[in-house]
Amino acid sequence: MKTVIFRADDPQTPKKAAEIIRAGGLVAIPTETVYGLGANAMDEAAVAKIFQAKGRPQDNPLIIHISCADELERYCHDIPQSAYLLAERFWPGPLTMVLPVRDCIPKSTVSGNDTVAVRCPKTAVTRALIAEAGVPIAAPSANLSGKPSTTTAEHVLNDYGEDGLIDAIIDGGPSAVGVESTIVDLTGVRPRLLRPGGVTPEELKALLGELEIDRAIFSQISNDTVVRAPGMKYKHYAPSAEVYIVTGSGEAAAAYVRRHYEQGDAVLCFEEELPLFADCNPTAYGRRADVNTLSAGLFAALRSLDRPEIKRIYARCPEGGGVAYAVGNRLKKAAAFRCIDAEAEL
Ligand code: TXA
Ligand code: MG
Repeated sequence: MKTVIFRADDPQTPKKAAEIIRAGGLVAIPTETVYGLGANAMDEAAVAKIFQAKGRPQDNPLIIHISCADELERYCHDIPQSAYLLAERFWPGPLTMVLPVRDCIPKSTVSGNDTVAVRCPKTAVTRALIAEAGVPIAAPSANLSGKPSTTTAEHVLNDYGEDGLIDAIIDGGPSAVGVESTIVDLTGVRPRLLRPGGVTPEELKALLGELEIDRAIFSQISNDTVVRAPGMKYKHYAPSAEVYIVTGSGEAAAAYVRRHYEQGDAVLCFEEELPLFADCNPTAYGRRADVNTLSAGLFAALRSLDRPEIKRIYARCPEGGGVAYAVGNRLKKAAAFRCIDAEAEL
């Protein structure tokens, strides 16, 4: 069986895709963050197919996607007031909340945890699909495990081929946000940011009054450490080349890269800096002046650089809070937190 491609603007798509989900199949779904690899979250056999297709470690729990905030209570219990506040302000949208899970969700979906990560995505066709299926859809990012996330239907096809490894893909065009959702854990004494994304730490703090930042966001965590969001400890978001972040002015960074440039090197930079790196195999992922273009373009650029002839990537990384914090987090993870201070190397 070949993988079926559904168009997001075909009115039949939610119904047809829902049939596949209810029958225990895999459907790649577009969301405003990245594409997800979806299955019925209540069906253990279907969930097992997600882990198998992605090559995902079994200890890495899945996010369940719901069609509206009212469904939260079906799958979670002891929901704090803060969750309702967040849902009202940011759903549908790029925010995932970790809450105590009800027994109706199989243990394998949540990798044996007593919590579940829940998100209500913005993309209309995906919410229509969830409503039509009548079940929550478990969906990790649709990339093969360890690869950069998928932000187009074509990326998904590149990872899985057309020969039915997954049953269908809904093509909703490029994901607008481009990095995975913000994850906030509401099961502790204080709300804790587990992964930065399109909903910014500043927005969360403004609404919640307080926010702890999980250390997995800003440092490398070894594989045997117990962390709250297991996915954050794996080498992740990374092409096969070694990635190095080069900090400092564009001029200093270009001078450093030119001095060290060898065959097999490439540069991932801001559009504004393309002329500076002209001799060093540059790829731009967006404009420094507009961080949303950087988040939207990051994974497509990392994927385009995932080629055997590219051995080392020098990456330019936006600094500061807001969405830049999420972009910086993904790039630093791709680089395993290796940073070169170009100003100090002058
Ligand atoms: O934007 C997104 O969140 C995308 C789209 C498809 O919705 N999904 C996504 O899923 O990024 P995934 O599986 O690639 O990343 C989910 C992250 C992992 O780091 C996982 O460890 C963490 O969420 N996670 C899942 N359930 C959790 C839980 N109960 N407690 C803590 N972390 C959890
Ligand atoms: Mg992922």
